[in-house]
Amino acid sequence: MENVKTFEQRKKDHIRLAQDNLTQNLVSNDFSRIALVPEALPEINFSDVSLEAKILGHKFSSPHFISSMTAGHEQGFKINSILAEASAEKNWLFCVGSQKKELLGLSAQAEIKNDLKQIAKTNKKTKFVSNIGLEEVITYTPKEILRIVDSIQSIGLIVHLNALQEVFQNKSDVKMKNGIKAIEKLVKASPVPVIAKEVGFGISRVTAKRLFNVGVSVVDVSGHGGTHWGMIEALRQEKNSYFVKSAEHFSDWGFSTVESLIDCQDLVNKKNIWASGGVRSGVDSAKCLAMGARAVGLAQPLLNSVITNGKINSTEHVLQTMAQFDYELRTALFCMGVDRVSLLNAQTKPRKVWYEK
Ligand SMILES: Cc1cc2nc3c(=O)[nH]c(=O)nc-3n(C[C@H](O)[C@H](O)[C@H](O)COP(=O)(O)O)c2cc1C
Repeated sequence: MENVKTFEQRKKDHIRLAQDNLTQNLVSNDFSRIALVPEALPEINFSDVSLEAKILGHKFSSPHFISSMTAGHEQGFKINSILAEASAEKNWLFCVGSQKKELLGLSAQAEIKNDLKQIAKTNKKTKFVSNIGLEEVITYTPKEILRIVDSIQSIGLIVHLNALQEVFQNKSDVKMKNGIKAIEKLVKASPVPVIAKEVGFGISRVTAKRLFNVGVSVVDVSGHGGTHWGMIEALRQEKNSYFVKSAEHFSDWGFSTVESLIDCQDLVNKKNIWASGGVRSGVDSAKCLAMGARAVGLAQPLLNSVITNGKINSTEHVLQTMAQFDYELRTALFCMGVDRVSLLNAQTKPRKVWYEK
């Protein structure tokens, strides 16, 4: 098992590298391929536009959510505290990063053994979704995994599917056999909805169907064009190794969020599909919603607002970024003549509101 020191160093490196241009936008996020149909005569007032959204049965002020990001080192407590405060203030859903550290009881400092539990205690208004990797779901029993849900009273549990990332960690023992069976077992035991997500390489219609068939409630496609987790892990390997070259060869691996949503068009009316990965503006979010996603996740843009050059910013700074995404989304809705999120996405789509250029 990985020791505490190497675990925490890895998490520190992840945050630093996720903010490095070398790991961002290695390939187009494809949002420029999509055009939203403008409504030059909106017949509504800007103030009529509501972003209110129901996610996992709870009401939020926006379909935007904070997408999972592990902190897992000494700055983690502060980063997650700020995100929890900001999500309570804005009434956005907060999907926390991997809780592997908690599951394995890994912590150098006993007093911050379970920092998320402490954060949940002091931010009672925040709605959390838990997160764990597929490898843990295969290795541990549902009972063991579900402790991470209980500890922060989560309203859902994300299982992240990260095959490419795991391989680029230079592990010789990546084990993903029997993944779907393990997910099925977890779904059966879980008191909260289980969500499956990628970490930036997209999910195909075929895989989404397999996940829904075993009872997964939501699939978050998390496609490419934003943070590249192959490159992040490659940059952590020996300088003279071939890993970075190999990661370059995988720079356009998988589906963008747009490609995943296009692939999943026959599912979006019936199933709960979320979008994340490479979403860099509220206009991108509007395109995801128009293509049928019911919620839209932001990872790296929010990390950038929490931490700049290693220094943690104020909660106010994060609130500004969240407000900007909401403002852009609201503006896009208004300029399409749509006053509610549910009218934009496929659940009640009155007309085709997007075109592929
Ligand atoms: C610093 C950082 C840590 C992350 N940790 C996790 C994690 O623990 N679990 C997970 O499911 N995804 C994790 N992700 C992946 C994101 O949730 C997201 O799928 C991916 O970064 C693509 O979104 P983006 O382009 O907006 O960054 C992390 C992302 C970042 C930037």
